[in-house]
Amino acid sequence: MATDPLVQQAAQILRAGGLVAFPTETVYGLGADARNADAVRRVFAVKGRPETHPLIVHIGSVDELFSLAREVPAAARLLADRFWPGPLTLVVEKSDAVLPCVTGGQATVAVRMPSHPLALALLRELGGPIVAPSANRFGRVSPTTAEHVRADLGGDVDMVLDGGSAEVGVESTIVDVTGDRARILRLGGLAVEELERTLGEPVLANLDEGRVPGQLPSHYAPRAKVLVVSEAELAEQAEALARQGASVAVLAPPGAALPAGTKLRAVPSDPAGYARELYAGLRALDSDQPDFILVVPPEARGIGRAVADRLRRAAAPR
Ligand code: TXA
Ligand code: MG
Repeated sequence: MATDPLVQQAAQILRAGGLVAFPTETVYGLGADARNADAVRRVFAVKGRPETHPLIVHIGSVDELFSLAREVPAAARLLADRFWPGPLTLVVEKSDAVLPCVTGGQATVAVRMPSHPLALALLRELGGPIVAPSANRFGRVSPTTAEHVRADLGGDVDMVLDGGSAEVGVESTIVDVTGDRARILRLGGLAVEELERTLGEPVLANLDEGRVPGQLPSHYAPRAKVLVVSEAELAEQAEALARQGASVAVLAPPGAALPAGTKLRAVPSDPAGYARELYAGLRALDSDQPDFILVVPPEARGIGRAVADRLRRAAAPR
């Protein structure tokens, strides 16, 4: 099959040291050629992200892990074979092929093979790895459409490849496989239950803020103040805020009874459907500039745990 001319153009921009935003199944990424230090530095500058905060390296085939990693532990092989391409990032010890600016000087590198066909086509066309953080300004809600990317980064990106709405909707699950036991560093699109089933043992979790770069307490945040509430508390909370003169918007599964004038954005109640619509929902509500966004989280199983994690960070004090 002939390569899409837009993909060819995107690869050309990457080769020339430019930045291309591209779709993945989780969220849109802000891509640069991982072998070009100047391009990598531009990613940090455009995102407004500290240089100590390492990037994920995206690859187009499982084999490339072997050149980026100093050593590929058995667990990494098992997980890569089972879940790549897909919403899983593996942290391994880095080889000399990985530029220090990519990892913020750390001895480990985060690697992932995305499943979106346009991401894979771009990786294949470039013929090398692409660093890509989520294509939003630092600390803000990740983009799940090309429109979100344009709204956030505008002219700071040389090209945006449009691949429609992201299918998973939250970022990849990050697993550190450098130790004796696999350790989750970030909850995400691949459920913990699935990882444990494949590894045949419980994984450790290291989700406390501050331990891992990027796991800042306040992150993934819209401009409005976010409050996470239960379905039972929702109507009462919305009324109390409205009585104080605050404008209130709500993100919740359908059917919530609300005071008149409260804007509701309904999201599917199943965790996967909820995850898919989470960021678009927060962005849409935030664009009306309410004082508060009240959110009823999904059930905390499977990908619902990642959604609850993002909501907790969106609601954290800034
Ligand atoms: O789904 C995703 O992972 C998306 C898409 C575009 O692939 N990317 C993404 O990238 O979420 P970003 O930069 O927004 O988040 C990357 C996370 C950060 O929390 C960073 O600290 C962590 O990965 N990370 C990167 N390298 C690491 C390393 N060597 N050790 C531990 N954490 C690392
Ligand atoms: Mg991000």
